Amino acid sequence: MVNTIVLLGGKTTIGVIMMFVGNGSKPSTDREKSDQLTRKNYRTKDTFIILTKQNTILDKYRLHRKWNFAKNILEMKAIVLNQAGSVDNFIYQEVERPTPQKGEILIKTKYVGVNPMDSIVRGNEQLLTHFLGEKRPAILGWDVSGDVVAIGEAVTDFNIGDAVFTCVLGGGYAEYVVAKPEHTVHKPKNISYQEAAAVPIAAIPAWEALVKIAQIKQGDKVLIHAGSGGVGHFAIQIAKSYGAYVIATSFAKNKDFVLSLGADRHIDYQSENFYDVLSDIVLF
Ligand SMILES: NC(=O)c1ccc[n+]([C@@H]2O[C@H](COP(=O)([O-])OP(=O)(O)OC[C@H]3O[C@@H](n4cnc5c(N)ncnc54)[C@H](OP(=O)(O)O)[C@@H]3O)[C@@H](O)[C@H]2O)c1
Repeated sequence: MVNTIVLLGGKTTIGVIMMFVGNGSKPSTDREKSDQLTRKNYRTKDTFIILTKQNTILDKYRLHRKWNFAKNILEMKAIVLNQAGSVDNFIYQEVERPTPQKGEILIKTKYVGVNPMDSIVRGNEQLLTHFLGEKRPAILGWDVSGDVVAIGEAVTDFNIGDAVFTCVLGGGYAEYVVAKPEHTVHKPKNISYQEAAAVPIAAIPAWEALVKIAQIKQGDKVLIHAGSGGVGHFAIQIAKSYGAYVIATSFAKNKDFVLSLGADRHIDYQSENFYDVLSDIVLF
């Protein structure tokens, strides 16, 4: 029984090997053949075949390369933390690539949004453990955009190749990240991956406060403090999309920005007292 080492070479070699390995699907390009082959080889380490006609030294060299290529399928680059602290504690290294379990998807990361939460958690060991557990190295990163590259069992709403953005439970500073479908949405064509990665953590509290808690409806009058901020600028747009009358506070220099988002009334919190401006409005 043949249960030894590897194989290398050009198209002919790959064709021969595919026969031995016996792959169900039919790859069409050399790269696809190589990908399938290497995956197969890595998973069934003891079924490799030596092609003896080639130069031994060259074989060893290529074997090394082939093995590294196989390793890459299960590894990825990530920015990790072994200990909370300053940004100097970040290390760029290879780690195990996550695998999507039942009810999960695997995303190839394009962009990661960095929020105040990232720096707060990065700088505090207790918070790092609270959010990401005791395992080290830990990988920060919550807001991610990218493409779906693998799907676990029982996932119905997403397909491989879908452009998405998501809020993950850490792990975003990496080439690949596992996400929950219920925390993920398809990226609209009219926003970029970069823009999409800036959405989740800032938009979710705005959405929850207005839609889920306040149950905003057409004609409501809404006061949004810090309308120029990360959460506030989403809140203004969400409230307007529900047909509300929006009053938003900000520093004077951000007045035009706040109004450009659709706010009906701007309050400069340094020169106006919002109590006086809103004295005729019942707040809850
Ligand atoms: N629960 C959550 O999941 C969640 C998520 C994200 C944020 N948050 C919280 O939501 C709050 C806002 O976060 P953010 O990300 O939007 O912060 P941000 O982007 O830093 O915005 C804060 C804004 O506050 C405005 N501001 C400062 N002093 C003000 C005052 N006296 N009156 C009115 N506005 C004032 C500033 O506007 P000017 O520049 O115009 O002065 C600034 O743009 C924070 O407390 C944050 O912790 C919660």
